[in-house]
Amino acid sequence: MEKVLVTRRIPQAGLEILEPLCDMVVNPHDRDLTEEELLEMSAGCRAVLAVLSNRIDRAFLEARPEVRLVANFAVGVDNFDLEAARELGVMLSNTPGVLTDATADLTMALLLSLSRRLVEGDRLVRAGGFQGVAPLFMLGNDLAGKTLGIFGLGRIGLAVGQRARAFGLRILYHNRRLNEEAHELLGAQMVSFKDLLSRSDYLCINAPLTAETRGRFDYQAFGRMRPTAYLINTGRGPIVREADLVRALEEGLIAGAALDVYEYEPQVHAGLLGRDDVVLSPHLGSATREVRDAMARLAAGNVAAFLAGEEPPNRLV
Ligand code: GLV
Repeated sequence: MEKVLVTRRIPQAGLEILEPLCDMVVNPHDRDLTEEELLEMSAGCRAVLAVLSNRIDRAFLEARPEVRLVANFAVGVDNFDLEAARELGVMLSNTPGVLTDATADLTMALLLSLSRRLVEGDRLVRAGGFQGVAPLFMLGNDLAGKTLGIFGLGRIGLAVGQRARAFGLRILYHNRRLNEEAHELLGAQMVSFKDLLSRSDYLCINAPLTAETRGRFDYQAFGRMRPTAYLINTGRGPIVREADLVRALEEGLIAGAALDVYEYEPQVHAGLLGRDDVVLSPHLGSATREVRDAMARLAAGNVAAFLAGEEPPNRLV
């Protein structure tokens, strides 16, 4: 039987697909593998089921030529060197589709947390600061009639737009290409990056991390946003320059931000931690039981297809 490494314990739904098909080695620790451990444990493996923290770069692929498939347990693939894999003839796959709704739900949860000051209010109540309802107490902002800008309108951006429409938000988006569905389903308008910044009351990032999107939200970008605007990032941390975001918040260039992902994950910029206008969640976009089971089945299904000599259904390269 071929040897397969699973770099982090995944739901049983995935493990039980692989167990009868291969000689499966699962990371025994409740933590990510170090680069050295990844290299060591993948010796002799035909396939690796990897998580986001595993850097699958040229050095790894060259050092482990026996690995012919890396199946990501994620939709994002910024941990992969796609070009190197293409050149070296290694197959890569991801887990698209199954996490779209969950990630869109979390985006709305963060947006609502900001607009209605939920996390700040929770802290106040716990600290004993609630003295009764009052006409001017903890006022937030409406959603109906406001504008949501979506940076990156793929599957997840579209699902965010559908939810946002139900709350009465108007939708603008910035994307590499026109998205017909966004126009039909959301009545959305495609705009330049500059217009997205200057016209959005809420701006959510649902783009993948690429050379084009890395660092796009920097001090200059925040300077173009409305002082009343809120930023929500459930895409990838390095799309936002965290130090610039802290400065923008300090200077009142924008009103607040909610982040689920971080530039130097799992580190979080210290300047964000003490702020009441910031909501922080620990990369929870796809973190529901149902979705993680589905991701496990999908990632394991890609490995199973490969082992059977078939095309992995979610093959990217
Ligand atoms: C999570 O961040 C994913 O890309 O699946």
